[in-house]
This record gives sequence, structure tokens and C-alpha cells, in this order.
Amino acid sequence: MKALFQRFALIILLFSVIGTSLAGTHRGYEPKMLETGKFLFQGNCAACHGMNAEGTVKNWHKKNESGKHPPPPLNGTAHAWHHSFKALAHTIRNGTQSIEGSMPSWKAKLSDEEIGAIIFWLTSLWPDEIYASWLERNKQ
Ligand code: HEC
Repeated sequence: MKALFQRFALIILLFSVIGTSLAGTHRGYEPKMLETGKFLFQGNCAACHGMNAEGTVKNWHKKNESGKHPPPPLNGTAHAWHHSFKALAHTIRNGTQSIEGSMPSWKAKLSDEEIGAIIFWLTSLWPDEIYASWLERNKQ
């Protein structure tokens, strides 16, 4: 009985080691960078875009009463993946208030590395085919 339990414990341990190392190599991203991206996103962006980037507004594609676009989800279910890394970084850095949107600018608060970590965390949530299309766009 004891031996059986030990074998069981060993299997659980092996699974958790394998699980962690797979998570660590997710699309080649450093786990630490993804953690930073998630932390910064949840602290700065979640109020409008949702804790897991799932969005906070159901009809996000419809303009609101003030004629502005609500914040879209950024988890791969909307169209953030239509924009290259550079374009996403530009939107986050500058916001959209100068182009009649309502997203604040982040360049005074977040460094380029921090913005990069957020973008990579977001893309790590996207399904494989969406992520693959996004990679193609980045080559153009
Ligand atoms: C006050 C609400 C608000 C906060 C906070 C906010 N956003 Fe936004 N965001 C918006 C809105 C609204 C839009 C839609 C664009 C517009 O204004 O027309 C948007 C659009 C975007 C887009 C473009 C998505 C697309 O599909 O084109 C990205 C990327 C983005 N936000 C990332 C972020 C990140 C990263 C943060 C945190 C650093 C953040 N946002 C914080 C409101 C917000």
C-alpha cells in the first residue's frame, strides 16, 4: 500500500514537472516575462479590457452613446490579432484619444519592455490558428 502511494506521488510529481516545463516553453516565451505581462495588464488594463482580456462590454463592436468604440476583448476573440506587434505597441503607447477614441496613453507609465511583455502575454492567450495568422502579419 505504501509502495503504491509512493508510486502515485512520483507520477504526480513527474506530471507537475512536465507541466511546468511545457508552460515555460509556451511559444518560446519566457515564463517570467509572461507573468510580468499578466501582472501589468491586470493592474492597468483589466478595468476596461477584463481580468483575462475577455472584455467588459458585450456589444464591444457597437459604438456607445457618445459615439466611441467600447474597449474590445484582447484574448483573441476580437480583432487585436489583425494588428502587428508594432501597431499594438503603438496603440498602447499612444492610446486613441488623439484619434477620437477613449483608450488612455501609457507611454508615461509603462516602458517599451513592459508594453512588450503585455502584448506577449495577450498573444499567449490566443488559439493556435489566430496566433499563426498574427505571426504572418508581423512578417509583412
Ligand atoms: C479607460 C479604459 C481603457 C483602459 C484602462 C485601457 N484601454 Fe485599451 N482600449 C480602450 C478602448 C475604448 C479601446 C478601443 C479603441 C478606441 O478607443 O476606439 C481600446 C483598444 C485597445 C487596443 C486595440 C485593440 C484592437 O483590436 O484594435 C489594445 C491593443 C489595447 N486597448 C490595449 C490596452 C492595454 C495593454 C491597456 C493597459 C496598459 C489598456 N488597453 C488599457 C480602453 C481602455
